[in-house]
Amino acid sequence: EEKINILNLEELEERAKQIIPTGGFGYIAGGSENNWTLKANRQAFTHKQIVPRALSNIEDPQLDTNVFGIPLKTPIMMAPTAAQGLAHSQGEKDTAKGVAAVGGLMAQSTYSSVSIADTAAAGNGAPQFFQLYMSKDWDFNYSLLDEAKKAGVKGIILTVDATVDGYREDDIKNNFQFPIPMANLTKFSEGDGKGKGIGEIYAAAAQKIGPDDVKKIADYTDLPVIVKGIESPEDALYAIGAGAAGVYVSNHGGRQLNGGPASFDVLEDVAKAVNGRVPIIFDSGVRRGSDAFKALASGADLVAMGRPVIYGLALGGAEGVQAVFEHLGDELKTIMQLAGTKTIDDVKKTDLLNIKY
Ligand code: FNR
Repeated sequence: EEKINILNLEELEERAKQIIPTGGFGYIAGGSENNWTLKANRQAFTHKQIVPRALSNIEDPQLDTNVFGIPLKTPIMMAPTAAQGLAHSQGEKDTAKGVAAVGGLMAQSTYSSVSIADTAAAGNGAPQFFQLYMSKDWDFNYSLLDEAKKAGVKGIILTVDATVDGYREDDIKNNFQFPIPMANLTKFSEGDGKGKGIGEIYAAAAQKIGPDDVKKIADYTDLPVIVKGIESPEDALYAIGAGAAGVYVSNHGGRQLNGGPASFDVLEDVAKAVNGRVPIIFDSGVRRGSDAFKALASGADLVAMGRPVIYGLALGGAEGVQAVFEHLGDELKTIMQLAGTKTIDDVKKTDLLNIKY
């Protein structure tokens, strides 16, 4: 497998569609209901603009940053996404290698095709987070947290926006069931997830989650707990009050509450409420260097991507993943140069315009 040629990340979906089987592709690409929020995630980036700064006298912008005490070569990270074996035989192992090659941060999903330890090993010491879908079975939650800690993972992402699965029409049309096992689920009596639909998988997860659950997990682990799926200032404050070390602004890539706002449109208000007390991770719809710039300038400390990375994995394994991050990093550097920002800290201090086109 070779590094794939990438014109832009938006074109990858059509290319990946040619090689990922229909059911798996629908599961990856789809949103919920009629995909209104999925589409809004892309459109929202037009709601703010970056003012060119021509006389800033800078060159060679740098992407390196430090978040949660972790030095990173890029502020763009891999979002936790399930079942990467759908896209490539090596699944999360190759994603981990590709992300490590760019010095980025990888988040493993509870529903990974590869075990926590094997994905960590593939990253070869590169920083990784583990994403937890809280189960009703607290022994299971604790055992996953223990395994993550043992594997050297540096943070826990607790996803709270998926107490039920969104209404995913593609999965229904395709009668989609996972054709591959989920390595971390072998401890469930229901089995490893293979041959099940997403609804059945989620049924094992907790159906209600509140601040007390966040606190219970934050108290249990000494790793930083970042709460993912926050779209309101109120929830951000609840999470921080319960001991969250980070807030992850996301609408799950438009896969959960359809009819909700684009994730980018709520970022600034959540960031105002957080007021710098903890770092913010942002995702949902990031495909362009300008999108990443706007997210950083609106309060994000890290910007995550889901689908484009899975498509890169499908098209070129670890090298494909690497190429996706390099491409977005190059686009971001171009925007940084044109906006007169030398460092990621400069980007974060940039004021954007608010003109609704
Ligand atoms: C996801 N996402 C997700 N989130 C999570 O916390 N745990 C998970 O297991 C998954 N699984 C998953 C699978 C697939 C196929 C997708 C596309 C997404 C959501 C993910 O972390 C992220 O929020 C979105 O992917 C971001 O939107 P974009 O970048 O795909 O537009």
